[in-house]
Amino acid sequence: MTTNAHLEAFRQSYRAPRYVQLPQPPRNESPVPWLTSLYHNADAGIYGNRNYRGNCSGNLIRDLILYFQPESVLDVMSGSGTAGDVCRSLGIPCYSGDLRTGLDACNAEELETATEGEVFDFAWIHPPYWRMIAYSNDPRDLSAQPTLTDFVEKLKEAMQAIWHRLSPGGKLAVLIGDYNDRELGFLPLTYLTKQAAFSLGYEQRVTDIIRFSHGSTSSRRRYNTAFIPGLHDTCVVFEKPEAVAESQSN
Ligand SMILES: C[S@@+](CC[C@H](N)C(=O)[O-])C[C@H]1O[C@@H](n2cnc3c(N)ncnc32)[C@H](O)[C@@H]1O
Repeated sequence: MTTNAHLEAFRQSYRAPRYVQLPQPPRNESPVPWLTSLYHNADAGIYGNRNYRGNCSGNLIRDLILYFQPESVLDVMSGSGTAGDVCRSLGIPCYSGDLRTGLDACNAEELETATEGEVFDFAWIHPPYWRMIAYSNDPRDLSAQPTLTDFVEKLKEAMQAIWHRLSPGGKLAVLIGDYNDRELGFLPLTYLTKQAAFSLGYEQRVTDIIRFSHGSTSSRRRYNTAFIPGLHDTCVVFEKPEAVAESQSN
């Protein structure tokens, strides 16, 4: 086949469901051996409300909980309550809060009061991807921040507030995605999230988890510009180190 014929064949077929061969994961002692750096579960699961904008599948949260086996879970940007539903199904206590239910995740004192000073060994956050979806006009809302710098600062405040609610060795899993902003172009939110987390003293000890974005609204749209579509979010699991230096996250 010539190169042109080859390209034409691709052009005709690229929107058809595609079955790709994933690399074989090494056998190991993980209780969830299907949880790898490529998370490709097209089934959204039975958790949360799929009609809530920005709702994420609970299956990844479930698999992370099965892997890390926390005793309690904190979700301070709960949206439709996906993480809470997962925890209920697994019989694990979970504190869920969201700005829409009155909790400002960026306010450490408020979070301490709301959780009655409890500490958790696993926190999950799925923040707004800045202004991709506007959740409210509330100036405390991450999606209402006027600039990218303000958004990153707010996200950092939330990760710092969570730090104080995590036990040493506790995990913070953040689901975040890069995207093309209508005015600013490509926004590397995953990189900026990591930069903010590391500056607070969090460490990363496990691989990034690339979550295939099945069923996103953009996949049903047609755009009049050329770009390389991003078909994934990234879940980064940070750890609050066991031994914390005095200067960290003050
Ligand atoms: C991407 S959605 C989370 C969706 C959720 N994972 C689900 O499956 O339904 C982000 C959430 O962050 C919340 N949010 C934005 N700023 C916040 C803040 N300062 N404190 C707490 N929640 C905030 C929004 O109200 C929104 O519900």
